[in-house]
Order: sequence, then structure tokens, then C-alpha cells
Amino acid sequence: MVVSANMSPPTALSLAFFAVAAASPLCDFPAIINLGDSNSDTGAVSAAFGPILRPYGDTHFHMPMGRYSDGRLIIDFIGVFKKLLPKHSHFSRALYTIDIGQNDIAYGFYYFNMTTNQIKLYIPDILDRLAIIIKNIYGEGGRFFWIHNTAPLGCLPYLLDNTPPAADQTDHIGCSAVINEAAQYFNTKLNETVAELRRELPAAALTYVDIYSAKYRLISKASEHGFEYPLQACCGKGGKYNFNRMIGCVERVVVNGTVIVRTHMCNDPSVRISFDGIHFTEAANKWVFDRISHGAYSYPPIPLKKACLRRV
Ligand SMILES: *[C@@H]1O[C@H](CO)[C@@H](O)[C@H](O)[C@H]1NC(C)=O
Ligand SMILES: *[C@@H]1O[C@H](CO)[C@@H](O)[C@H](O)[C@H]1NC(C)=O
Ligand SMILES: *[C@@H]1O[C@H](CO)[C@@H](O)[C@H](O)[C@H]1NC(C)=O
Repeated sequence: MVVSANMSPPTALSLAFFAVAAASPLCDFPAIINLGDSNSDTGAVSAAFGPILRPYGDTHFHMPMGRYSDGRLIIDFIGVFKKLLPKHSHFSRALYTIDIGQNDIAYGFYYFNMTTNQIKLYIPDILDRLAIIIKNIYGEGGRFFWIHNTAPLGCLPYLLDNTPPAADQTDHIGCSAVINEAAQYFNTKLNETVAELRRELPAAALTYVDIYSAKYRLISKASEHGFEYPLQACCGKGGKYNFNRMIGCVERVVVNGTVIVRTHMCNDPSVRISFDGIHFTEAANKWVFDRISHGAYSYPPIPLKKACLRRV
């Protein structure tokens, strides 16, 4: 009998402060302040909702580290390892990283069975609220913003399993075109919101990072990049997408009155893209980070190390 599944879709936003391990000499960010969901959370979710169990964390940390992956997240590669208490002097020179959208869209499909058109209707509200948050940070002195758009959610095992696309709603790799349409709509509006903020906040440097295209390239050309089974979870228990909403990656079963934890890992997470059907593996996060950190997927096209510069 399954008593509890450890599958929480990207949860509420969390804020985290980090010291920067390798500070860029040019921009010299003394801190990174992240606003995001469980794709970039390094512990707030497990602090709030109970520990994340192995095999989460196994690849890099050899123990669960409060991250929803087998290892490091994109935010870890951005250059941050040690948490610190924010000093007031850090706020204006910090890099504010923002990674939102996945929950906002996924919840509509996953929990509320909404159509793409229904989801599109509430997206402007979400972006209005994000704009207010960014203006507030600017009002407090924040200047440098590194803003990720949202992933091709229609390629993620948990959403494919939950909302399997009809044949005429499937793209050439098997992703759901209707879910990806919602993600692309969000991204178009996000890019417009960021453009508007550049006009309103003249001293800010806002970089829009097209995570969607980087991840779509990885998923659609997986074997070319050394990855396999792009639409299946590494840690999961069967089915077309190796994802089971009730079981998840870490399954707790009761055997003769004792709770036993069973895990369902693939053999080699280093060649897999999706770790648990919701979140990426460390290998995939590293691949994406290597593509986005030089500016090739950014507007304006400046590397992370120069994200304090305005070039628009
Ligand atoms: C979800 O909505 C569709 C219509 O958009 C409907 O056909 C289907 O029965 C609904 N599924 C559930 C589980 O409510
Ligand atoms: C984002 O908007 C800018 C203009 O503000 C545009 O040049 C750029 O191509 C857009 N990026 C994407 C990925 O749509
Ligand atoms: C459960 O307990 C029964 C009776 O003691 C035993 O025969 C059975 O093997 C146990 N099952 C497991 C899976 O340990």
C-alpha cells in the first residue's frame, strides 16, 4: 500500500540569499538573491515541508541536500554554494535571479484541468505581480536582474502523464503542443514585461534568459548531446513516461506494519534529462547552464559575468 508519495510539483516561491563563490571581477556581485520555485530551491521547501529523501542529491552531494534533483541545480552553477545572511550593503550590488512560471502554468493543467485558453487568461496577472516585485526590489536599491523564462513544460513527464496529448496535439518529439503553447505565451508576455521594465527602471540591467529554447534543444536533440529517453523520468515507476503521480521517485510502502522506503532509480542519471518527472537532473542542469551562461540565449546577449551592464 502506498502511504505517501514524495512528488511535489514545483512549490511556492522561495527567496534565498547566497554568497558568490567566484565573484566576477567585472560586475563583482557580492550576493545572489534568488526568487524562484523548486527548480531553483536549495532547501526552503524541505525546511517547510519535511526532508527530501535519497536518491535526491546522490550524484553530487551523496546525500539529500534539499534540492529536487540528483545533484546541483542551475542556480548552483550560477556560482553559489554557501548560504549567507544578507547584509544590507549587498542588496544594491546583488544579482537578483528570477525563475518562475512553471508552477503557475502547470497547476492549471495538473490540478484544475484547465484549457490552454483558460490558463492564458490569468498569465497577465502573474506578470503584473512579478513587475511589482521587481519594481519594489529596484525601489530598495536592487539593479541587476537575471530572469529565466519558463521551460517547455509540455515535454515534462509529469505533465505528459497527467494531460496526455492527442495525436494532433503532439509535436515531432512527442511533447504536448497545447502545454507548450501556454509556456510560450507566458514567455512572450514575460519578455514584453521585461522590455517595459527596462523603460520604467532606467538604471536597472535586466537580462531575459531564454531557458525554453535551451531546454527544447536539449530535449529534441537528446542523443546528439549524449542524453537518452528525453521524455521519461529517471527516477519513477513505469508507464510511458516512467512517471506515476501516486508513487513518485521515493515510494513509502507499509510492509507488515512497518514503513519501508523504495526508490526507483534509472541506472545512469548522467545521461538523463528529467530526474523525477518534474525536475531536471544535474547533468541536464549543467548542460543548460553551459548554454545560457555566455549570453547566447539572452536578451541583451551578454554573459552572466557581465549581467550588471546595460546594453539595450
Ligand atoms: C478535463 O476537461 C476536459 C474538457 O476540457 C474534459 O473533457 C475532461 O473530462 C476533463 N477531465 C477531468 C478529469 O475533469
Ligand atoms: C525578447 O524581446 C526582445 C525585444 O525586447 C527581442 O529582441 C528578443 O528576440 C525577444 N526574445 C525572445 C526569445 O523572444
Ligand atoms: C509479514 O509477516 C508474515 C507473518 O509474520 C510473514 O510470513 C511475511 O513473510 C512478512 N512479509 C514480509 C514482506 O516481510
